[in-house]
Amino acid sequence: MMKILFVTSEVYPLIKTGGLADVSGSLPIALKSLGHDIRILIPGYPSALAQGAFEWVEAIPGTKTPKLQKGLLPGTQVPVLAFIDDIHFGRPGNPYLGPDGLPWPDNAERFSTFCHLATDLAMDRLGLDWKPDIVHCNDWQTGLIPALLNDEINRPATVFTIHNLAYQGTFSHDMFLKLRLPLRFWSPNALEFYGQMSFIKGGLVFADRISTVSPTYAREIQGAEFGCGLEGLLTHRSAKLSGILNGIDMADWNPASDPYLPVHFDREHLPQRQEAKALLQTAFGLPIAAKTPLLAWVGRLVEQKGIDLLVDLLPRLMALPLQIVLIGSGDSRFEQSLQHWTKLFPDKFALRLGYDEARARLVEAGTDLFLMPSRFEPCGLNQMYSQRYGAIPLVRRAGGLADTVVDADAVALKEGTATGLLFKEATPEALYDAIERALALYQKPSVWRAIQKSGMARDFSWALSAQQYVELYAEADHDRQT
Ligand code: ADP
Ligand code: GLC
Repeated sequence: MMKILFVTSEVYPLIKTGGLADVSGSLPIALKSLGHDIRILIPGYPSALAQGAFEWVEAIPGTKTPKLQKGLLPGTQVPVLAFIDDIHFGRPGNPYLGPDGLPWPDNAERFSTFCHLATDLAMDRLGLDWKPDIVHCNDWQTGLIPALLNDEINRPATVFTIHNLAYQGTFSHDMFLKLRLPLRFWSPNALEFYGQMSFIKGGLVFADRISTVSPTYAREIQGAEFGCGLEGLLTHRSAKLSGILNGIDMADWNPASDPYLPVHFDREHLPQRQEAKALLQTAFGLPIAAKTPLLAWVGRLVEQKGIDLLVDLLPRLMALPLQIVLIGSGDSRFEQSLQHWTKLFPDKFALRLGYDEARARLVEAGTDLFLMPSRFEPCGLNQMYSQRYGAIPLVRRAGGLADTVVDADAVALKEGTATGLLFKEATPEALYDAIERALALYQKPSVWRAIQKSGMARDFSWALSAQQYVELYAEADHDRQT
């Protein structure tokens, strides 16, 4: 049994902007069920605290630490510790962005303070009488923790997981000085990155082990195309770098019981799925049309996700007999062009800008085809959710998408292993060809049904990956001791 401190800036269902929250809200459950003593540490955002019955932590008997509240991850026995710091985290809304949609100007101070607190907790300096064996850090917001811990005697082992290398937490030299970090951290062998300070480098340089969220992305980030300037460092540390595929919470994401869904179905009751399609069409104000192929998109409207490829194709797609629903938010230039197209084709293309968990799940349950033409994708969860919900994913062959979708080529179709469609080039033409290929398959209902069923039968649970994390923790612990 290991004691694990899992540090993250978001965790579902308390606070979520993307897949990091889903992973943070499901991997610890799997690790706990393997018998480990795992605690999650998050910043105490007011909206998260409001959802979880948090109370002050008793430190030394009779006293309370002014810094931590504790609760449980809703519906589980997994403890969550929240760092109470109203100056830095007592703000409503998005955890990283202000009301103007821009990063909070004091993000470096906010997450540096969080990392210092995590370090104190990891060294058992807060009077909790609990010292973890492993500190598992996630993404740049936690990057300083392995660096700070590296200086400590008798420290826990550290693991740093990259969920997205494109977000690095880089700030100016002035900010570095303001944070009062050890001056020796200002070095290319530590936090300096081309004249700036990089939070993520704290994790990449100092963690005992580095992981990322799919084997393919672990390879891709060691090359110039996806390495975001850090490929040299990652190649240098490649013996310590591994890819562990994300799992999903199969209980929470279950079309037979999902409380967000107005109708339920499973692999043996696929005809009921038609009802979900009709409800989805209605929810988005599209005509109900059982036989018209319905395509969907859920996600951040940013270039990473290839939304520009789809925007580019809309004029051509609107000439085809199909419907498209889209839910997401992101760059305003994409939001504007999408709005333009829904006005021109209100019966074929429907759009919801913003974040809406219930609608996103209805989309998975009701759409025929789920589009994810990402330029790069560390893992991606939606393509797994869509397979589980009987939507056929159409994805670019990149990162975790390549690792989780089996293309409907002739061999896979014959063997009954196909679960989706993959395409290679990040161009509108390649995406269009793949959509045409999907539409041709849609015309063969028994083939379509077989692909749906293979996807729905797949096991994307955490069982295997959680075991791989346990092995990684053991390796990190071994490296720390040598
Ligand atoms: P990323 O973390 O890069 O955004 P993932 O595929 O790993 O991509 O995870 C995205 C998660 O966020 C999924 O659970 C997805 O359903 C959800 N999501 C993204 N955008 C929205 C939205 N506009 N409304 C509801 N859920 C969304
Ligand atoms: C990031 C990645 C996404 C991944 C998620 C969870 O947001 O963009 O691909 O699934 O983290 O690991």
